[in-house]
This record gives sequence, C-alpha cells and structure tokens, in this order.
Amino acid sequence: MSTPTSPLVRILFSIAGCAAMLAVAPASAADAAAAKKTVTEVCQACHGADGNSPSGDFPRLGGQHEDYLAKALRDYKSGARKNPIMAGFAATLTNKDIDNLAAYYASQPAVVHDKF
Ligand code: HEC
Repeated sequence: MSTPTSPLVRILFSIAGCAAMLAVAPASAADAAAAKKTVTEVCQACHGADGNSPSGDFPRLGGQHEDYLAKALRDYKSGARKNPIMAGFAATLTNKDIDNLAAYYASQPAVVHDKF
C-alpha cells in the first residue's frame, strides 16, 4: 500500500532539505586561492608568502585563526585598530578580499620561532 503524500507535505520537505543544505555550507565561502595575487604583490613583502616572516617586526599570520585575521583586517580598515602601516593596506581591501586573505593565511602552516 502506498502512502499518499500531499503536495504541501512534499513542498515542506523540500524546503527543509534546502535549509539543511544551506546550514552545512561554510559560513563564509572564502576563496584562499583568490588571495594569492594580493599576497604576492603586497603582503608577502612583510609577512612572507606563507605568513611566516622570519622578521620579528611583522606578526606571523600562518595558521592563525581565520576569524581573528579577518577581524584584525576589518579593524585596521575601520580604524578600530590603529596602525599606520596596516591601515593603508587594509583600506584598499574589500570585504571579500579580507575573507579570502584571512582564509589564505589561516590555511598556511603555523611556524613557531622561539628567538630572533
Ligand atoms: C610594509 C609592511 C607590511 C605589509 C606590506 C603588510 N603588512 Fe600586515 N602588518 C604589518 C605590521 C608592522 C603589523 C603589526 C601592526 C600592529 O602592531 O597592529 C601587521 C599586522 C597585520 C595583521 C594583524 C596580525 C595580528 O597578529 O594581529 C594582519 C592580519 C595583517 N597584517 C595582514 C596583512 C595583509 C593581508 C597584508 C596584504 C594586504 C599585509 N598585512 C601587508 C606590516 C605589513
């Protein structure tokens, strides 16, 4: 015996299915690969291509939490975090650039140096 399913029930199930798919998608669809150009042209001069500059003058970004990096860049951009060097670079970045750059550096290895 087949169970009759009303069209309304089927619609509700498909809506629930779509919602479930959206829920499992990552919160930000950041594209780490898209950041590579900016990293090569701008950021690597100080932070290194993998975010692990050997110089103590520049914070290491490799392996840092993605949300921390994105917040730092947004704060430089808004002026909530003040640094004359980073303010200039962050000012040129879009929200999407920031997400991509944060994803890129977060995906790099974290390298620990104990002394310079
Ligand atoms: C001319 C050198 C220079 C360049 C180029 C540069 N930065 Fe920075 N960056 C710094 C310095 C210096 C700091 C530390 C500033 C501070 O004390 O807040 C910093 C801090 C940061 C921080 C915060 C790190 C932390 O641990 O809080 C992030 C994130 C960051 N930079 C990302 C980038 C990105 C992405 C780019 C490329 C768009 C970039 N930087 C380009 C010098 C640079």
